[in-house]
Amino acid sequence: MFVKFILSLVIIFGVIFSVEQPVLSANDPEHTYLDMQLRQLINSIAPNNSGYQYFILPDSENLSAIPFDPQNELTKEKIYLGQMLFHETALSINPINSKHWQEASCASCHFAEAGFRSNLPQALGTGGIGAGKLRHPDPDAFPAEIDKQNILAPSVLNSAYQKAMLWNGRAGSTGVNGKEKLIQSFDINRFKLDGLETQAISAMNVHKLGTAAIALIPEYQKLFASAFPDRPYVGSEVEDLKRAGLAIAAYERTLLSNEAPFQKWLKGNKMAMSKNQIRGAITFFSSSCVHCHTGSNLARDEFYAVGFDDHPKDWTGLNLGRGTATQRAKDDFKFKVPPLYNLIDSSPYGHGASLTTVRQIVEYFNNAKPQKMEAKYSGNLSIFFKPLNLTNKQVDDLTYFVETGLRDPNLIRYVPSKIPSSLCFPNNDDLSRKQLNCD
Ligand code: HEC
Ligand code: HEC
Repeated sequence: MFVKFILSLVIIFGVIFSVEQPVLSANDPEHTYLDMQLRQLINSIAPNNSGYQYFILPDSENLSAIPFDPQNELTKEKIYLGQMLFHETALSINPINSKHWQEASCASCHFAEAGFRSNLPQALGTGGIGAGKLRHPDPDAFPAEIDKQNILAPSVLNSAYQKAMLWNGRAGSTGVNGKEKLIQSFDINRFKLDGLETQAISAMNVHKLGTAAIALIPEYQKLFASAFPDRPYVGSEVEDLKRAGLAIAAYERTLLSNEAPFQKWLKGNKMAMSKNQIRGAITFFSSSCVHCHTGSNLARDEFYAVGFDDHPKDWTGLNLGRGTATQRAKDDFKFKVPPLYNLIDSSPYGHGASLTTVRQIVEYFNNAKPQKMEAKYSGNLSIFFKPLNLTNKQVDDLTYFVETGLRDPNLIRYVPSKIPSSLCFPNNDDLSRKQLNCD
C-alpha cells in the first residue's frame, strides 16, 4: 500500500515536472516585473479595452467561439468529416499520370508536423514521393505531372481568423474582399463564401481531387449524411465536391494553436513563459511587429509591401501580389500578413520562400532593406517597414519568442488515427507507405 502511495507520488511529480517544466520560480522578482510589464503593454494595445481576450484563441471544441461563415455553420459532424477528407488520399483520383492515383491529400502539402505548412519551397502533392519532411519529387515523373506551385504553401493553422485566403487574398467574397471588385477572381468566388470555404472548394479542383471513389465507401455515405442532413445522399460529383470543401473548411477552422506557451500565459498561467520569452514578447508588442501581426492569430486581413523576394520559380517574373487581384498600382507588391504560430516547425518563409530562418526575418525587419527593389521603387513599401534599432539581445529574445513562445507543441492532436478508405495517409505512394509503416 505504502509502496503504491510513494509510487503514485513519484508518478504525479514526474508528470507535473515533465509537463509543466517550471523554468522559473513563482517568486522571482525579475520574472514578476517582466510579467507585469507585458500585461500592461498588451492591455494598452488591445482595442476597446478588450485586454488579453483580443489575443486569445478559443478551445477547438468551443464551436460557438470560433469565427465561421454563416453559410457553413460549424457542427461536430461536419468537422469530423472534414478532418477525414483533409487527410484522405482516396480523393486523389484525377492525377495527370494515372500511376499516381490516390497518392496525395491536402495534408501532403499542409501537414501537422510542419505546422500545417510544408518544409519545401514548393510543397508537393501528387507526383511527390515520401512522407512528411522526407517528401521530394518522384524522379521518374515529368515536371507537368507533379502538383506543385511557384509560391510557398502558407499554413492553414488559425486560418479561421482571416476572411481573404491565398497570398494575394483573391479567395473569398467577404471581409476585405466584400468591398472589392477583384479582377482576377476567375470563377473562384462564385459561391460568395468566406475565403476558407472558397479556397477549400477550389483546392479540390486545383489539386486534382474528386469524390467519385469515396462516394462508394459506406462510412463516407454515413458521414456525409450526418454532416449535411438536408441532403443526405452522395453521388453527384459537383455537389459532393462543394460539400467536401465546406466540411474541410469547417475542420480547418478548428486548427488552433491554443496550447502555445503565449496562449497559456494569456489565459493566466504566469509560469507558461520563461523570462526570455516574455522579454521577446515585450519587444514584439512594443515594436512595429504588432501593427501588422495582431489579434488571436497575430496576423491581419490586410496587405502590405515589405519587400520579400518572389519565388525563384515564379513564371510571372514579378509577382504583384494584391495588385494582381485588384489591378490597382497602389496594391502592387503587397501580400497578405501571415499568422505567426508554429513557424519553427518548417522553413522556408515568405510568399517566395526567400528567407530560411526566423532570426533572418527578425533581422530583415530590424534592418528594413528590401530584397525586392521593385517594391521599393513602386513607393508602396509600408511606413512600418523601417529600421527598428533593436539590440542583438532584443533580436535574440524576439526570435526566441516567435520560435518557442508561439509554438503549440501538440498539433498532432488534430490528425486522425485512421481514415475511412483505410489507405495510407497523408501520402500513399510506395515510399511513403514504407516510411509510414502502412504496408
Ligand atoms: C501541391 C501542394 C498543395 C496541396 C495538395 C494543397 N495545397 Fe493548399 N496551398 C498550397 C499553396 C502553394 C498555397 C498558396 C497558393 C497561393 O497563395 O497562391 C496554398 C494555399 C492554401 C490556403 C490558403 C491559406 C492562406 O493563409 O491564405 C488554404 C486554406 C489551403 N491551401 C487549403 C488546402 C486544402 C483544403 C487542400 C485540399 C483540398 C489543399 N490546400 C491542398 C499548396 C497545396
Ligand atoms: C508592415 C507590416 C508588417 C510588419 C511591421 C511586420 N510584418 Fe511580418 N510580415 C508581413 C507581411 C505582409 C508578410 C508576408 C510577406 C511576403 O511573404 O511577401 C510578413 C511575413 C512575416 C514572417 C514570415 C511568415 C511566413 O509564414 O512565411 C514572419 C516570421 C514575420 N513576418 C515576423 C515579423 C516580425 C517578428 C515583425 C517585427 C519585427 C514583423 N513581422 C513586422 C507584414 C509585416
